[in-house]
Amino acid sequence: MISSIWPSVTWYTARAGGFTAYVLFTLAVIVGLALSTKLQSPSRWPRLINSELHNFLTLLGAIFLGVHILAAWVDPFTRFGWNEIFIPFASHYRAVWMAFGIVTLYLGIAIAISILLRPYIGYKWWRRLHVVTLGLFVLATIHGLFTGSDGQTWWALGIYAVSSVLVGVLLCRRIFFSKEKPKRVPVPANKPVAVLESARR
Ligand code: HEM
Repeated sequence: MISSIWPSVTWYTARAGGFTAYVLFTLAVIVGLALSTKLQSPSRWPRLINSELHNFLTLLGAIFLGVHILAAWVDPFTRFGWNEIFIPFASHYRAVWMAFGIVTLYLGIAIAISILLRPYIGYKWWRRLHVVTLGLFVLATIHGLFTGSDGQTWWALGIYAVSSVLVGVLLCRRIFFSKEKPKRVPVPANKPVAVLESARR
């Protein structure tokens, strides 16, 4: 009995895990872009868009990504070897599109390491490396669209389309309308810091 439903359990878990990870990472990118463009909720609302939410979504996405990969690995129907799961183009199943997912995983790990190394590499380099997340979003979208069995269904196409439009609109806002550097207030030699802070607001 268990052996007859196990292939369905692993395959459904792999697919659900993939979509959950994709949606969570997309939300993390959206919150990240909103933070960098200083998009805030109205002041009378609680400040929902903050870096804790960004980190939480990323971490939760990483957990579901682990579930996705593990379920695909143990699935008895596709019978992936470890090399097919971790080495690009080694898979017997949709090798090229699987490679997009594997490369996304490695780039994601590289970005996670860059976060840990932030005190050593400095803010400027960390920020430059963080831009790679946008490439990651594109790679994950291509991977989901062409590897997944659900890639051509209306709801999956809807998820990919809505995600891409939201990220695209916020990215354009970031590139074309965001004021990158805050205006510096000239510092008179004898003014206390508190006065300068209030002048900046
Ligand atoms: C080692 C890395 C990865 C491996 C081995 C892998 C494996 C797979 C496999 C085998 C499928 C096909 C499932 C099916 O046919 O329904 C799939 C689909 C999918 N993957 Fe991955 N994946 C990896 C990384 C990623 C990453 C980084 C994401 C992004 C968050 C992701 C999101 C998805 C999505 C959304 C689907 C579509 C599921 C569906 O249409 O049902 N995967 N992946």
